[in-house]
Amino acid sequence: MGATGSAPRRGFGIDVGGSGVKGGIVDLDTGSLIGDRYKLLTPQPATPEAVAATIAEVVEHFGWDGPLGVTYPGVVADGIVRTAANVDKAWIGCHAAQVIGDALPGQRVTVLNDADAAGLAEERYGAGRGHTGVIVLLTFGTGIGSAVIHNGALLPNTEFGHLEVGGKEAEHRAASSVKEAQGWSYERWTKEVTRVLVAIENAIWPDLFIAGGGISRKADKWIPLLQNRTPVVAAALRNSAGIVGAAMAAEADVTATAR
Ligand code: BGC
Repeated sequence: MGATGSAPRRGFGIDVGGSGVKGGIVDLDTGSLIGDRYKLLTPQPATPEAVAATIAEVVEHFGWDGPLGVTYPGVVADGIVRTAANVDKAWIGCHAAQVIGDALPGQRVTVLNDADAAGLAEERYGAGRGHTGVIVLLTFGTGIGSAVIHNGALLPNTEFGHLEVGGKEAEHRAASSVKEAQGWSYERWTKEVTRVLVAIENAIWPDLFIAGGGISRKADKWIPLLQNRTPVVAAALRNSAGIVGAAMAAEADVTATAR
């Protein structure tokens, strides 16, 4: 039952990652999934058409015919993909929603950055719930994704993972993939994460950082080691944040610029 006692408001989100394309039906009153997620492997090479076909399979698995939100791991401005740091370069210049819509005729598709989607979901339903002010979510994975949200409104495409910090891109310094590749301990890695957090907080003074990505599951091992000044909390929605945020974006214009 929804907050008003009626049926829940339902949405649909798809999270496109380097290894999997995951989708699910979302209860937009609570930010939880209705039923299970469904996941297919990301096709290789992950060209726009191949990924669009996989997305269509996920959507068809649920028989969903309403609007859908899709995440993309790069900059999406006015619907056009601008960067492809960790995915097939063929995406650059594509109108992502159109390519995906071609595989799903008649369905309205909204595409947004993956970290932006996770940030929206965490801010409304997860670790940011009840917090006001400026929230910065960072996802630590192959790269570093970022989302900036101010009282519910998203400032899209912030890309803090590509900030230069001490002569090096933030994600080349402190993504969790760097920790793995270098065989670093949490102590060693959090020194790099601290430098990135300090660079961000010196520039925009957030009220709260939310740490997401797979490594946030082990947050108790490393968040206490950080030495920056802004509080850092672990993401709460785990691997459904992207799906939930994508569904939110499909339902309403969530960007700060549209308000
Ligand atoms: C991309 C971001 C993305 C992040 C996580 C970065 O390399 O530039 O847009 O959010 O990886 O996928």
